[in-house]
Amino acid sequence: MKVIIITGASSGIGYISARELALAGNKVYGAARRVEKMDSLKEYGVVPLKLDVTDEDSIRQAVETVISEQGRIDALVNNAGFGMMGPVETVSMEDARRQMEVNLFGMAAMTRAVLAQMRSQGEGRIINTSSMAGSVPIPYGAWYNISKYSVEAFSADLRMEVRPFGIKVSVIAPGPIHTQWGTIAADHLQRTTEGTVYEENAAREAEAFRFAYTSSLLPGPEKVASCICKAVLSPHPRFHYRPGPSASASVIAHRLMPSSWWDAMVCMVWKWRGDRWPFRKVPSE
Ligand SMILES: NC(=O)c1ccc[n+]([C@@H]2O[C@H](COP(=O)([O-])OP(=O)(O)OC[C@H]3O[C@@H](n4cnc5c(N)ncnc54)[C@H](OP(=O)(O)O)[C@@H]3O)[C@@H](O)[C@H]2O)c1
Repeated sequence: MKVIIITGASSGIGYISARELALAGNKVYGAARRVEKMDSLKEYGVVPLKLDVTDEDSIRQAVETVISEQGRIDALVNNAGFGMMGPVETVSMEDARRQMEVNLFGMAAMTRAVLAQMRSQGEGRIINTSSMAGSVPIPYGAWYNISKYSVEAFSADLRMEVRPFGIKVSVIAPGPIHTQWGTIAADHLQRTTEGTVYEENAAREAEAFRFAYTSSLLPGPEKVASCICKAVLSPHPRFHYRPGPSASASVIAHRLMPSSWWDAMVCMVWKWRGDRWPFRKVPSE
């Protein structure tokens, strides 16, 4: 039985991963701000913890609770995150900072809070949820991209630093997955572009997000949960997992294509959806 903390367990990927890890016989602490959303996880043995990853006191309390109750932490799954979508020009610096606070600094603060305990045990696992967007840029996604590119760099560095202490690091980088992520991202995209030159295209993009993320077109979070379980439980976890059908293909295409080809491909998708930019120049004001 492993003692596991998983953040962002009130919804989507985190919720299903907490359930699967508990069903596999582990002691799982599911952490999130909306603690009531994790009530239904109790029947699987998951212990809900109130946690805001942007609040250091909240992090300290959550980690202390687990150590005082279990005496150890075998794995931390840093999964909490969201997509602050919007054009660079219109996303406020406050919104940009909030994106980094949750997706990068929240993950880093959680990691820092468990490392001493894992070092004293001589073993542990840190699993960080990145995204396909941690290797492939998506239009109107600059701050989300930056946050997830940072998760990749942070994890690659951490892996080398903590290996001598028996701590293993893995990254989970899914493609699009059917969760609330898309609706939240669409809401931010529309809010940040209201009354701007980007509004029309952003509204169409937001509509496409809402449609895709609420339809059965996308794979469910079970696919990602199964990679998270492997990263936590396998004796020889991989450093990188890319769940979702488009994740590996997009990353390989982006790596191989000259940037002009990549941009042309993105343009084709946008044109197919009826968007004006970037085919026709927007008239200057
Ligand atoms: N769905 C996708 O297509 C996709 C693809 C690639 C990567 N990802 C990544 O996968 C992770 C999980 O996303 P999801 O798809 O499962 O989305 P989701 O259903 O919206 O779940 C996001 C989770 O993050 C938690 N969270 C957000 N802000 C938090 C904060 N300040 N403190 C603590 N918890 C916080 C939320 O809980 P509370 O609001 O209750 O705190 C919620 O449980 C994210 O890192 C996301 O970027 C998702």
